[in-house]
Amino acid sequence: MLVTDAETLPKPLPILIVPDPTLRKTARAVTPADAEAVRSLIPAMFSTMYKAPGIGLAAPQVGSLLRVIVIDIAPDKTPSPIALVNPEVVAKSDELATREEGCLSLPDQYAEVTRPARVKVRYQDEQGIKREIEGDGLLAACLQHEIDHLNGVLFVDYLSSLKRNMLLRKLAKDQKERRGR
Ligand code: NI
Repeated sequence: MLVTDAETLPKPLPILIVPDPTLRKTARAVTPADAEAVRSLIPAMFSTMYKAPGIGLAAPQVGSLLRVIVIDIAPDKTPSPIALVNPEVVAKSDELATREEGCLSLPDQYAEVTRPARVKVRYQDEQGIKREIEGDGLLAACLQHEIDHLNGVLFVDYLSSLKRNMLLRKLAKDQKERRGR
């Protein structure tokens, strides 16, 4: 499946914005009974992510409380879409890395976040095959950021309360202005 081919992709879904309460819920594990739902959810999530545009998206951001994330950290250069079902961090480095993060659920808000520099993630692919992915740099940050979403955690939770409140106030103001337009 050529997921980056706009013509083959389903319609993008609306993205939930903070403070939508769904973003704070814990998503549940995907079971074989969810196979059909996941088969339609994943292409819709890729479509939503590419349209936004973003490099990662978690199911709760489109209102689904299933443990599914999609990632493509280089959509413009060499598209490498990865869909991860029931992803789980199984190893992380002691070494930390700090990089600027943003989130489609907090549009236009960015902050530096410190996380383990390298992680190993176990997951199932779209066919239910067990796989592992190991990453550093942007991929490591993206994997951790998206898996956090499945636990109701947002990147602002890593900031000091002063920084977090400033950012959330700015978001609320931006959103209000957007609605007013
Ligand atoms: Ni996010």
